[in-house]
Amino acid sequence: MELINHLSWRYATKKFDPVQKVSQGDLDKIKKVIQLSASSYGLQLYKVLIINDLALRERLLEHSWGQPQIVDASHLLVFCNHSDVQSKDVNEYLQHMANARNLPLKQLESYGEFMINSINQKNSNEKNTWLRCQTYLALGNLLAACAELKIDACPMEGFDSNAYDRILKLPEKGLQASVIAAIGYRHSADNTQMLPKVRRPIQALFETI
Ligand SMILES: Cc1cc2nc3c(=O)[nH]c(=O)nc-3n(C[C@H](O)[C@H](O)[C@H](O)COP(=O)(O)O)c2cc1C
Repeated sequence: MELINHLSWRYATKKFDPVQKVSQGDLDKIKKVIQLSASSYGLQLYKVLIINDLALRERLLEHSWGQPQIVDASHLLVFCNHSDVQSKDVNEYLQHMANARNLPLKQLESYGEFMINSINQKNSNEKNTWLRCQTYLALGNLLAACAELKIDACPMEGFDSNAYDRILKLPEKGLQASVIAAIGYRHSADNTQMLPKVRRPIQALFETI
């Protein structure tokens, strides 16, 4: 299975070559993969900021445990979940569904009510966790896509999300930073690429009942 080879090739890159850039064509493929990611109800309540501005990345570096990937990688992607679920989000989704499947909007009303009712059963903490979780599915697909394209990546939680929110003015957009990914090409001096993978044994990860 090719995916296993790709996933064995990839590693969380610690040192990127600051010169080599991901092409627009590859970036478009990565965007498509993120767009195709599964999400709860299909709502996709997140936005991914692609940050190229180096001055901005230098500001973010101060709030990212000083991890050099923030400035050295070709692109920095910040996955931002919606801070809340609005009925307009559900309505927008239903409109997309009506368009894509050529259905009358009226026919989707009860499904919309079902979604809103079940989402509203979560308290605000649960809702926030649920919204953040969706971005990790997109992150997982990004890692697999990068591996297939032989693009290096580092998924990262080592940053101060409140500082990111402030610097990127996310609350004004109803967003909050969830997780980030630096993508680009490994530096030949990144010794991490030589290290064997460390994974829990299959027997510990699975139990057949
Ligand atoms: C959600 C998430 C957050 C992570 N945060 C960081 C990080 O801030 N900095 C870093 O260098 N690696 C980070 N990693 C990389 C993990 O340490 C790495 O994926 C794990 O050790 C397995 O190694 P591998 O990805 O190289 O196979 C993160 C990984 C994930 C999935």
